[in-house]
Amino acid sequence: MDRIRIRGGNKLNGVINISGAKNAALPLMIIPLLTAETVTLHNVPRLVDVSRLQRILQNHGVDITTAGKRVGQIEHAGETLKISAKHIVDTTAPYDLVSKMRASFWVLGPLIARMGEAKVSLPGGCAIGTRPVDMHLLAMEKLGAECVIDQGYVIAKAKNGLKGGHISFSKVSVGATHAALMAAVLAHGDTEIENAATEPEITDVAECLVKMGAKIEGIGTRNLKITGVTSLQGAEHTVVADRIEAGTYAMVAGMAGGDVTLRGARADTLESALVAMRRAGIDVTSNNEGIRIKRNGSAIQPVDITTDPYPGFPTDLQAQFMGLMTMAQGSCHIRETIFENRFMHVQELARLGADIRLHGDMAEVHGVAKLTGADVMATDLRASVSLVIAGLAAEGETMLHRVYHLDRGFEDLEGKLAAVGADVTRIAGV
Ligand code: EPZ
Repeated sequence: MDRIRIRGGNKLNGVINISGAKNAALPLMIIPLLTAETVTLHNVPRLVDVSRLQRILQNHGVDITTAGKRVGQIEHAGETLKISAKHIVDTTAPYDLVSKMRASFWVLGPLIARMGEAKVSLPGGCAIGTRPVDMHLLAMEKLGAECVIDQGYVIAKAKNGLKGGHISFSKVSVGATHAALMAAVLAHGDTEIENAATEPEITDVAECLVKMGAKIEGIGTRNLKITGVTSLQGAEHTVVADRIEAGTYAMVAGMAGGDVTLRGARADTLESALVAMRRAGIDVTSNNEGIRIKRNGSAIQPVDITTDPYPGFPTDLQAQFMGLMTMAQGSCHIRETIFENRFMHVQELARLGADIRLHGDMAEVHGVAKLTGADVMATDLRASVSLVIAGLAAEGETMLHRVYHLDRGFEDLEGKLAAVGADVTRIAGV
């Protein structure tokens, strides 16, 4: 297994290019299941999760080609994928594929909508919490599908097609909103989704669906109204910039100090995190190019945060913010309200010298004057990058193990960090 070696202490200066959003690219790769025509996606990040989803979709008969770089195309742009689900040959998503990546469960909605049936393995537990799918099933049932769970599979049928319905979610769920939206666009009649998630990735997917001919009102709000259409067409779409990657590098630069521009980052999708960073004493400005992060000598101030659905502070940046707070001049509270087990980075940060105490869903972080490099283990995607943040400010060498978690969601992390002066090297496993 590969490892990443970090030698802390360097200030960072220069430009980091922000990739397309993983959590938009994955559902965008799934919605071509809704049409027999080709959907072209630009700016798809080169990530393990993206390649994994390609394999899963190919199992259903989806044809995916990767277009080469075009003359004049900017160097850092992601890949272009041409996705065609002209012939769906299999409506089963087996356990060995779905268990590797939760988002692949989202094929359920489009498969029922287009084919009238689907058999999709339950995604199973994940390290950050139990992550049930009851709200996904509720949405399918409200649209007229019959769902049963048999031997670890959701078996869903809608023999005469889906019908529009009223879906009211008891809590905000990104995945259940995707599922409801993807299914409702091809249902007969009108659907209303109450308490929908408003994450920018949902907006990106909804905008692509509209290009494909879907009729959706209220995009970006908690109330989505969909008028079903009989078929959708092909479209061309560019994946929105990754706000979580941008927020992560903003915290990297805030922690290490220096002057870094996050090219392509969209401040409008990251407001709550940027507000918290400004309160921490970091200079954050946005311009046409992206977001600029500066800290030259000033101390990091402690800031309390609570994670919440968008536009609240993102759970996917909680670990990184905690990394930043480990060296704050004082104490703060970090509360996690989305996932019940998303503090696994705490014990690894402690190995670097952080002083953090856990009280249920609350972490009490007491800033320390110094962190010291150590061997640490990546436990999940975002947790692992919080260790990179701490390692960049620690004295000496930090060795991050199990970096395959990072490769699921951060494109060329070590290359992007090295380009702004960080001493970060990947050591290939034997
Ligand atoms: C998405 O996961 C993201 N994944 C997660 O990012 C992100 O942390 C999460 O949304 C919250 O923003 C992708 O977009 C691929 P949810 P998702 O349904 O859709 C509960 C990363 O690191 N719930 O919004 O699975 C659930 O347990 C990943 O990139 C139910 O109770 O999250 C949680 O407490 C990790 N029943 C809350 O809702 C359901 O049927 C929100 O989860 C569904 C969810």
